[in-house]
Amino acid sequence: MAAAALRLAVLAVAIGALVASSSAAVCPHANHTAPFAADFTMLQHQLRGTAAATIGRRFTIHHGYAVVINKFVVAGDDFTIRHAVTIGNRGPDSLACPVIGNNVELGANVVIIGDITIGNNVTIGAGSVVLDSIPDNALVVGEKARVKVIK
Ligand SMILES: *[C@@H]1O[C@H](CO)[C@@H](O)[C@H](O)[C@H]1NC(C)=O
Ligand SMILES: *[C@@H]1O[C@H](CO)[C@@H](O)[C@H](O)[C@H]1NC(C)=O
Repeated sequence: MAAAALRLAVLAVAIGALVASSSAAVCPHANHTAPFAADFTMLQHQLRGTAAATIGRRFTIHHGYAVVINKFVVAGDDFTIRHAVTIGNRGPDSLACPVIGNNVELGANVVIIGDITIGNNVTIGAGSVVLDSIPDNALVVGEKARVKVIK
């Protein structure tokens, strides 16, 4: 991962992906022609503070809103995320950030924080809060909503 990883500004990646919006880079099943200008501006605002994370090749953001990636996060190639993903530290007393392998996919609203390692070939389901390291070749699911009939 380290050899392949490029030190890229997240902002530059996001803008590059949007500029190449005719490709599948941002969201292959969405038509970005109409909302392009709005998306572009919002992504700039959202990602400005995170513009130094180290992320490998083929980084894909589907519906890239409310994405926060700490600048000390390291991720490998083929990293795919969705909206409202947060990757960062556990607070002022614990600034270490996750190190993420190759071929990792995150659902919406996934939170990954702390001094942990995410392996290669990992899929993390929507809404999961990940506080512990994950081995290679894993599927991670958070707690499913429970239904309580009240009448
Ligand atoms: C995408 O949206 C634009 C603007 O609404 C429209 O002109 C264009 O035909 C759409 N393209 C596709 C492939 O649906
Ligand atoms: C991850 O998946 C790829 C493609 O299936 C495979 O080549 C690679 O060995 C896997 N990595 C690990 C650590 O199992």
